Amino acid sequence: MKLEVDSLARCFGTTRALDGISLSVESARVLTLIGPSGGGKSTLLRVLGGLETPDSGTVMVNGAALATTAAELQAYRRSNGFLFQQFNLFPHLTALRNISLPLEVVHGHDPATAQTLAEAALSRFGLLEHAHKLPAQLSGGQQQRVGIARAVARKPAILFLDEPTSALDPEMTAEVLELIQELAEQGQDIILSTHEMGFARAVADQVAFIAAGRVEELASPADLFAHPRSEVCRRFLSKVMRY
Ligand SMILES: Nc1ncnc2c1ncn2[C@@H]1O[C@H](COP(=O)(O)OP(=O)(O)O)[C@@H](O)[C@H]1O
Ligand SMILES: [Mg+2]
Repeated sequence: MKLEVDSLARCFGTTRALDGISLSVESARVLTLIGPSGGGKSTLLRVLGGLETPDSGTVMVNGAALATTAAELQAYRRSNGFLFQQFNLFPHLTALRNISLPLEVVHGHDPATAQTLAEAALSRFGLLEHAHKLPAQLSGGQQQRVGIARAVARKPAILFLDEPTSALDPEMTAEVLELIQELAEQGQDIILSTHEMGFARAVADQVAFIAAGRVEELASPADLFAHPRSEVCRRFLSKVMRY
């Protein structure tokens, strides 16, 4: 994917969630956002995915300016996939139905096609045996994998993942990260925020360090983790990589 973001701002009341974000990514499969809580990672992901409208600034995704009309924005949103930290699945629907229902309601597939696509998505990630379970009958890791299966069921242009493992224990974290890595290897463009520095280092082509609503650094993981240039990034990394 190719991204050009210039002077992006988004305020919530007096909070400047995005305070002039600029970044340029020429070609990346996986862009990872890291940085302290409250820095603006989720807001940036939401703006890039078309879920949130910025107050000012411009965004170009793969050469096209972000849509401005409601209808175009909705179409753009539907062309992408999303997964958040937790509570992604409808608790009263089976894993299969969690995937097939949006395919019917949001994407307009007939029920039979939706079911076929949903089964294919579950089977792709080895989750078919869980098709008829409710979220409460699945582990947190399995729930997140079902959530990812749902997000990629229609082959999204970009998959947005917002701290997909932060509510999971280490073993479940590993199974979700493996799935994300597999997707990246299969060619899925991904933008994710994470606190898993080892994973960011292993899977990202580009890492953006975001703090106080700004991109402090943008570099390859090898560069950013070995030679953080800004003081605030150095401090953050020395804190989170200490243990
Ligand atoms: N919907 C919202 N309403 C009010 N404040 C918000 C909202 N979303 C984000 N913020 C604020 O914007 C700042 C950036 O938040 P966020 O993008 O969630 O950062 P991060 O994901 O890096 O933790 C924080 O101060 C947060 O409290
Ligand atoms: Mg966040």
